[in-house]
Amino acid sequence: MANRIVVDNVAAGYGTVQVLHGVSISVEHGETVVLLGSNGNGKSTLINCIMGIVRPSAGEIYLEADGERFDLIGKTPEQIVDLGITLVPEGRRLFPALTVEENLMLGAFRKDARARIEQNLEICFEAFPTLRERKSQRAGSMSGGEQQMLAVARALMAEPRILLIDEPSVGLAPILVSRMIAKIKELKEKRQLTVMMAEQNFNQAIKIADRGYIIVHGEIAFEGKNAQDLQDNDMIKQYYLGV
Ligand SMILES: Nc1ncnc2c1ncn2[C@@H]1O[C@H](COP(=O)(O)OP(=O)(O)O)[C@@H](O)[C@H]1O
Ligand SMILES: [Mg+2]
Repeated sequence: MANRIVVDNVAAGYGTVQVLHGVSISVEHGETVVLLGSNGNGKSTLINCIMGIVRPSAGEIYLEADGERFDLIGKTPEQIVDLGITLVPEGRRLFPALTVEENLMLGAFRKDARARIEQNLEICFEAFPTLRERKSQRAGSMSGGEQQMLAVARALMAEPRILLIDEPSVGLAPILVSRMIAKIKELKEKRQLTVMMAEQNFNQAIKIADRGYIIVHGEIAFEGKNAQDLQDNDMIKQYYLGV
């Protein structure tokens, strides 16, 4: 049941503004790949291209699943979720007036997942016991950390094989970021997920990265073969570690 995503020479933007300039990356089966870059460099645009939310103007994006190739460009986000790719969006995008449980249900629209709502709810509540205690609370009244848990749990309700996570650290206190990063690693191992995570918080992202890319002005400026490789990179030292 091997899965990989390939992004090949993708260009994309908004109106006349080009944001991605020939980006090529891959996410291999079972990996945690991090996409590092400070604000405005195109991380979300790239993730949204994979998810069918932004349509590239050039290049290819495809999923290889169990030996079969699925072109993703031109597919709707719903069709892409059906292929087993799920997004935890930047800023969480919860429905604040709905309860925790209702938000979770909205993650379960995928055909395969609808039949297993009870089992998947149990998986979410086991991963995040706070959500069980608060299942009747309105999402909008929860803390930032709890909302991030809910956003990840909602993605799990779709039974993804590949999880895309866009900046889980945003707006969270450092201790909560550490916990969330550790939880992503735990879930990845338990649920046998393939993970791609966009982050500007280098020190946190590096903790779970098998390898990664640095994106600058919509181009891949560096490809790190492993976490050490990323840590040793001059750009990282200069911009993220203050060396
Ligand atoms: N919906 C949009 N419409 C127009 N410009 C956008 C939109 N989303 C992002 N951009 C622009 O694209 C560039 C890259 O943004 P983004 O992909 O969000 O970067 P990052 O996720 O790395 O912060 C920025 O200049 C941003 O202003
Ligand atoms: Mg972003």
